Amino acid sequence: MERQLIRQALARSDFGSVVTVAGWVRTRRDSKGGFSFIELNDGSCFGSIQVIADGDLPNYESEILRMGIGSSAKVTGTLTESPGQGQSVEIKAASIEVLGFADPETYPLQKKRVSFERLREIAHLRARTNTIGAVTRVRNALSYATHQFYQERGFLYLTAPLITASDAEGAGEMFRVTTIDPANPPLTADGAVDWSEDFFGKPAFLTVSGQLSAEAYALAVDRVYTFGPTFRAENSNTRRHLAEFWMIEPEMAFADLSDNADLAEDYVRYMVRHVLNTCGDDLEFFAKWVDESLMDSLAAVVDNQFERITYTEAVDLLGKADRDFEYPSTWGSDLQAEHERYLVEEVFGKPVIVTDFPFDFKAFYMRRNDDGKTVAAMDVLVPQVGEIVGGSQREERLDVLADSMRIKGMDKEHYWWYLDLRRFGTAPHAGFGLGLERMVLFTTGMQNVRDVIPFPRTPRNAEF
Ligand code: 4AD
Ligand code: MG
Repeated sequence: MERQLIRQALARSDFGSVVTVAGWVRTRRDSKGGFSFIELNDGSCFGSIQVIADGDLPNYESEILRMGIGSSAKVTGTLTESPGQGQSVEIKAASIEVLGFADPETYPLQKKRVSFERLREIAHLRARTNTIGAVTRVRNALSYATHQFYQERGFLYLTAPLITASDAEGAGEMFRVTTIDPANPPLTADGAVDWSEDFFGKPAFLTVSGQLSAEAYALAVDRVYTFGPTFRAENSNTRRHLAEFWMIEPEMAFADLSDNADLAEDYVRYMVRHVLNTCGDDLEFFAKWVDESLMDSLAAVVDNQFERITYTEAVDLLGKADRDFEYPSTWGSDLQAEHERYLVEEVFGKPVIVTDFPFDFKAFYMRRNDDGKTVAAMDVLVPQVGEIVGGSQREERLDVLADSMRIKGMDKEHYWWYLDLRRFGTAPHAGFGLGLERMVLFTTGMQNVRDVIPFPRTPRNAEF
């Protein structure tokens, strides 16, 4: 007998047929009449399937009545129309094979609601909860939509290296990759660690972004996108920062900032539509239990053009705001999360693309504007989350790029290959990075990035 996913079984209406499913027990209710109702869930969809176990089953007393929440079982039986409300299909079991018991005394996911904080401590089991199961399916849908979106538009999927010698953001927040024994490192004459003796013959790190590789390829094959993990050793314990997170980075040749903003807007809208179309039950759950404003936020993305304002306009709006921010917003300082959310949620009520930030606090590779003060940068801001996308038109002029790097104190020798791209057939180009976890927050209404990645890495936490 071919086993089916519970999602497939629930979609059937050929009552009387025999089906086999397997999964984990969500609840078991025993009726006085000598039979039991078992809710079985396999994570393939939000819903569980109801199994009716009759007292006549040979292992009813010996096994089925010992099968608590979290036990696993394989069920074969007849598909029947359910008399119960809200559920149309159930299985009248002909056999129930218990695959693994879960001791109710020690299984940590008993019926009562468990806090997200506690679930992080049992991250290996938390995907069996309604919430994390739904997050997992939405995250999957976003990943699928990402490939579909870029493939439809002629972008080539590029796998950028994870180990690199270059700091793509120039922010000095990299994890070192080394085979040097910390207890016994090779030393130079003046007593410093001799990195030339290390595995790669020079210092190496985990990448903070695939952008520089994507630029090289965009300047050869026109359009690429990366989709991979990136690593940042920034010691920020906020609800939107991870030390390891997943980023999607498209890069386009022959494109400027406005093309870039168009692409980002289309991409975000495409993903939201896809999730609305494919994860209805999950979204319904989030809207009911996690964030009441979720459907409005998602509708605002589908139905509206994103607002586009410059950084200078944003600072003006913040200056006029009738409210006290924790951080003041003065021209020249970066927008804080509270500023981003004020603009999106209170001023515009829909996503906002802020462009043309000051050169001083943005990365070396962004194209300098003619005003001498700003760069062709953009951030896409969404409700609840704030910044979800960061990108820019790239500096394609060799002399200007070299000057920016000098001002930012970067070693030109080290980036020789990146400068080569401007020496040989340079062209205008632009791209951005979207943080997958932030996109999952936005599409689920969840509050903390730690709860939307399977096993979060944050300062002092890499257990699982
Ligand atoms: O704005 P960021 O730092 O931009 C870049 O890395 C560029 N190289 C992208 C590019 O132009 N190709 O990061 C891009 C996005 C942010 O908008 C945010 O969504 C996410 O990545 N992000 C993080 N997500 C979780 N944890 C962190 N520590 C993050 N840092 C950035
Ligand atoms: Mg950014």
